[in-house]
Amino acid sequence: MDKFLIHGPCKIKGKVSISGSKNASLPILAATLLFDKPVIIKNLPRVRDINTMLNLLRSLGSKIILSKDRKTAKIINKKNMNTFASYSLVKTMRGSILVLGPLISKFHKAKISLPGGCLIGARPVNYHLAALKKLGMKYVIKDGYILAKSNGRLKGETIKFPKISVGATENSIIAACLAKGKSTKLMNCACEPEIKDLTKFLNKAGANIKWSGRTCTIVGVNSLAQTNHIVMADRIEAGTFCVAATLAKGNLEIKNLAPKIINTELELLKKVGAKIKTTNNKIFIKGPDKIKSIKNIKTKEFPGIPTDLQAQLMVLMCKSIGQSSITESIFENRFMHVAELQRLGAKIDIKNNKAFIEGNTKFIGAELMSSDLRASVALVLAAIVANGKSIVGRVYHLERGYENIENKLQKIGVRIKRLK
Ligand code: EPZ
Repeated sequence: MDKFLIHGPCKIKGKVSISGSKNASLPILAATLLFDKPVIIKNLPRVRDINTMLNLLRSLGSKIILSKDRKTAKIINKKNMNTFASYSLVKTMRGSILVLGPLISKFHKAKISLPGGCLIGARPVNYHLAALKKLGMKYVIKDGYILAKSNGRLKGETIKFPKISVGATENSIIAACLAKGKSTKLMNCACEPEIKDLTKFLNKAGANIKWSGRTCTIVGVNSLAQTNHIVMADRIEAGTFCVAATLAKGNLEIKNLAPKIINTELELLKKVGAKIKTTNNKIFIKGPDKIKSIKNIKTKEFPGIPTDLQAQLMVLMCKSIGQSSITESIFENRFMHVAELQRLGAKIDIKNNKAFIEGNTKFIGAELMSSDLRASVALVLAAIVANGKSIVGRVYHLERGYENIENKLQKIGVRIKRLK
């Protein structure tokens, strides 16, 4: 397994282009299963999870023509597709559960492996199953697989999610696009920008989806038309580079992203002391000499501070000049990075889902092990400002969600090398 060797501390300066959003691409690619006609998806990030989703679609019968730079996919489905998603594919990426909604809606049957849990939590799919059941899906769970079918087309329904869930909202919206009868009204939806990108794509193809706050109304149609879509930029990647600049007294120009979608994060970094200027698709950020601590940061559903940025913000608070705390309110076990940060010298105490962080940490380079995608990028950030050499193991976690990360970091002054 490849590792990264990082020689800190590094000055960060230069320009970064943000890639397409992994978490917008995954539901959009899953939704292409609804289409009879070819669909073209552009600005896909070249990351492992997208390859996994494309392979899953291929295993279901989609013909996928990739552009030379692998950022554009033309997807052509067969009349009768396969509706079996194997454990071998699903276990490597939880996002595979997003093919359940389109398969049951379009083909009225599906056999999908239950997605394994992962290090950040059990990651159940009960809200997905309950919502699809209300739309008319019948299912049993046998040998770790969801065996699902419906009597013909799904039927519009009113559904209120017991808890805000990105994936359950996405699965339900996709499934409801082709439902018959009255419209589907989904309440207490997640409203992350990636979900709005999904509904923008579907509406372009003739779906009828309207938003009002956390309520999404879908009037079912008979089929979707040929269309193409450019995936939005990855706000978590952008947020990660903004944290990096704030952490390392950096001076970055971040391109290709509409800053307003990370407004909450930028406001927090301004409180920490970063100097930030924005245009409609660029962020200019300068890190402060002194990093102010923030008493209690809490992750929340959008438009709050994203849980996918929690580990990165924890590294920043380690280097702040005072005490701070971070509460993880989305996942039950998303502090796997803390033990690794402590190996670098961090002084962090965990009480349930709250981390208490001592500031003024001097990180000393060490051997580190990645756990989940976002935790591993936090270790890279810590290594960038640590004194001495660090080795970050299991970089495949990083490659799941960050395109070309070492080249992007090298270009802005980070001494990072891949060790085969
Ligand atoms: C999506 O995961 C993202 N993944 C995650 O990003 C992100 O952290 C998460 O949303 C929260 O924003 C993709 O978009 C592919 P949820 P998802 O359903 O949909 C519980 C990354 O690094 N829950 O909003 O799985 C769940 O356990 C990944 O890119 C149920 O209990 O998140 C969690 O505690 C990590 N039952 C909470 O709800 C369900 O049926 C929120 O989960 C579904 C979820």
